Amino acid sequence: GSTVKVALLGFGTVGSGVAQVLAASKFPGLQLTHIFNRNVERKRASAGAKFVPASVVWTENIDDVLKSDVDVVIELMGGLNPVEGWLRKALTAGKSVVTANKQLIAYRGANLAKLAGRHGVQLVYGAAVAGGVPVIPGIRQGLGGDQLTRLSGIVNGTCNYILSRMEAGADYATVLADAQQLGYAEANPSADVDGFDARAKLCILSRIALHAELDPDAVATQSISTVEAIDFTYAKELNCTIRQVSRAQVDGTLVHARVAPMLVPLTSPMAWSHGTQNMVVASGRFGGDVVFSGHGAGGEPTAVAVVSDLLAVAQGCKAVELPVRKRETTGEFLAPHYLR
Ligand code: HSE
Repeated sequence: GSTVKVALLGFGTVGSGVAQVLAASKFPGLQLTHIFNRNVERKRASAGAKFVPASVVWTENIDDVLKSDVDVVIELMGGLNPVEGWLRKALTAGKSVVTANKQLIAYRGANLAKLAGRHGVQLVYGAAVAGGVPVIPGIRQGLGGDQLTRLSGIVNGTCNYILSRMEAGADYATVLADAQQLGYAEANPSADVDGFDARAKLCILSRIALHAELDPDAVATQSISTVEAIDFTYAKELNCTIRQVSRAQVDGTLVHARVAPMLVPLTSPMAWSHGTQNMVVASGRFGGDVVFSGHGAGGEPTAVAVVSDLLAVAQGCKAVELPVRKRETTGEFLAPHYLR
């Protein structure tokens, strides 16, 4: 059948994760043809480059992608400028876009979606919220029949990593440095700790789940950088811990939205979420609470979300079929495994 050609904009933690996942799974009908990045020389020498097929064109010139015959552009650069202009050109040229760009989708997502619609192509951003946890496709496809009234949870892996390690006695500066080292934090970690990353995600989720277009700048946002060791001691006396919690609640024609470090009872699943684990509880009028949970940051989990979006788009654009892997069934049981 026909091949869906794919370009990758950005070859950092997530971009190289995408190359790795594509190389490992070899989805028939998908071909990575271009990688755009600043300083291609350095990227070609990086560890992730070994997952990139030799036929791929590496370029520092965005026009090499925009003027090519690629079908899908995967954007993993981040930021509004110049990325918004590039993606508008890609959509206008009939290319579908898969992006993990939270700020862009929070501020400009509705507008870009209209542009995609006008040109008969797709714009998908499942990887923009909660990394590897399919919150966006889960809400869109699985909860569209409910009337959702509230979202609450943990949507920044870096803050959760910092706070859950502080709870165990580590100090703020050390764990922030670790989170950066591990590739969880944004290029400017202020976006994580000061809550701008979480509020962008909360606005995206509010669009999908509550059908509300929120202005990210209007969301009450409080930094976790002022949380100290002593706060955990007091929290514990109240049988609580501290997490960065994001909440949006429908109240008639209003939506109350807030991101802040909050006391969380030790009996709450949010208190059990450690490290990069994200957790989103979607509450509906008819279906009650549904909980999504898993790794919200990191190259490989986020790459899974990106590649899953890519497969969904590719199936739409050229009828690519998912590979069927034949496996034998035996009557034997493997050693039991336990949920942690
Ligand atoms: N810096 C983000 C986080 C990455 O820590 O959650 C995933 O969006």
